[in-house]
Amino acid sequence: MRRLVVVGTQWGDEGKGKITDFLALHADIVVRYQGGNNAGHTVVFDGKKYSLHLLPSGILNPKIHNVMANGMVINPKAFVEEINKVSTKFNLLISDRAHVVLPYHLELDKAYEALKGSKNIGTTHKGIGPTYTDKSSRIGMRVSTFIHEERFEQSLRELIREKNAELKLLNHPLLDFDAIFNEYKVYAKVMAPYVTDTSLYLNLAIESDKKILFEGAQGVLLCLDHGTYPFVTSSSPTASSVPLNTGIAPWLVEGAIGVTKAYTTRVGSGPMPSEIHGDLATQIRTVGNEFGTTTGRPRRIGWLDTVILRHTKRVSGLSYLAVTLLDVLTGIDELKIAVNYTLDGVIIDRIPAEIEDFERCVPNYITMPGWSEDITGVKSYEDLPFNAKKYLEKIVELIGVPIGMFSVGPDRNQTIMVKDIF
Ligand code: IMP
Repeated sequence: MRRLVVVGTQWGDEGKGKITDFLALHADIVVRYQGGNNAGHTVVFDGKKYSLHLLPSGILNPKIHNVMANGMVINPKAFVEEINKVSTKFNLLISDRAHVVLPYHLELDKAYEALKGSKNIGTTHKGIGPTYTDKSSRIGMRVSTFIHEERFEQSLRELIREKNAELKLLNHPLLDFDAIFNEYKVYAKVMAPYVTDTSLYLNLAIESDKKILFEGAQGVLLCLDHGTYPFVTSSSPTASSVPLNTGIAPWLVEGAIGVTKAYTTRVGSGPMPSEIHGDLATQIRTVGNEFGTTTGRPRRIGWLDTVILRHTKRVSGLSYLAVTLLDVLTGIDELKIAVNYTLDGVIIDRIPAEIEDFERCVPNYITMPGWSEDITGVKSYEDLPFNAKKYLEKIVELIGVPIGMFSVGPDRNQTIMVKDIF
C-alpha cells in the first residue's frame, strides 16, 4: 500500500504513536489530519524523549516530509513550544485552511466544562471543542488569516469583543485584546514559513507516487459522528474522514491499519461497558502505564470489547489490525472478551445511538486461557505462546480483520510485522 491511514479503534491511547513511528520509517510523507494538541505520545529518538502533541510523528526524521492538514486545529503557542524542542532538522508544511486555537477557546472549554459540573465531558481543556464549534459557525480563524498581520488584528479584535460577552455571561475572567495580539503575532511569524496549500502539495505528491502515512489522533469511539456522543472529541479520527480533512479524493486512500489495544482503556467521562475495577484493573494500569500523555489522568481499564471493534470496522474501514500492549496481559489466568451486549433483555451487536441506552448495555463475555511466559522478546508471530496466539486468532475471528502487526513492549524493536502492509 502506498497510502495508509493509522486509526485508533477504541477511545484513543491505543499506541498509535508507536505504530506510526514504526511505519513512518517507510514513508515519504506523514500527515496529521484532525484534532490538535489534545493528542499526545512520546517518541524516543537518539536516546532523547520527545512528547509530541501537534507535530506529525515523522518530525524527528529529516528524510520525511510532515504535513499538518486542513482538518487540524492548531494552537500557535503550543506549536512554537513544540518545534523549539525539536533539535534535529525537520521538514514541515501547515495547511493554510487549518483552524487556529486562540486563548478564548481554552477559556470557553474550561468554562463550559465547569458549567456542566458532574455531567462534564472530561475534555483535555485544550480548546478543541470551541475551536471546531467556531469553524462550523463560520466565525473561526484559518491559518491563512492568522499569518496575515492586519487581517489577524482586525478579526481578533472583533472576535475578542464577542467572546468576552460570552465569557461574561459565564462569569469567567475576560481577555485582553492587546496582550493576545502582541503575543500571538510573534507566533504567527514563526508559523508563516511553513504555511501552504497542503491539498495541492499532497495531490502532487500522489501523482509522483510518494508513500504517505495518514496519522489519526484519538480513536473512532471519540468520533463526533460515529463515537459515543456526546462523550466524544469534536473531529473525526476515522479513515473515512481523511479525504475531507486533507483535500484528496476518497479513492486515493488505499487502506487503514486499526491500532487496537489488547484490552480497552478510556479517559474522560462516558459509558464503557467492559470496564473493570479492583486489583486486576490496577495491575493492568500499572503494567501498561495507563496514564494520559496530555493530562496525566489515570485511564479507565476494561476487557477487550469486540462490539466496539466491529463498529469501528464498519464506520471507518479497517484493512488490518495492529494489536498493541499484548505483553500487559501476561500472567492473567483468564482473559475475557466481550462478544455482544444485552440491552433490556435483548442481545444486540451494535452501539446504541442514545448514550443512556449504551450506559445500560451489559456485555456478554467469552473466556480465553491466559499465558504466563514472558513475551517481551518475541521476534515473530510463531514465537508467541500457544494461548497468546489463540487470543489473537479469536480477535481475528470475531472482528473479521487480519492482524498486520502486533507489539509486545515500548521499544521500536518490540513491534512485529506479520504482513507486508506498507
Ligand atoms: P477534547 O478532545 O479535549 O474536547 O476531549 C473530548 C474527549 O476526548 C474527552 O473524553 C477526552 O478525554 C478525549 N480525548 C481527547 N483526546 C484524546 C486522546 O488523545 N486520547 C484519549 N482521549 C482523548
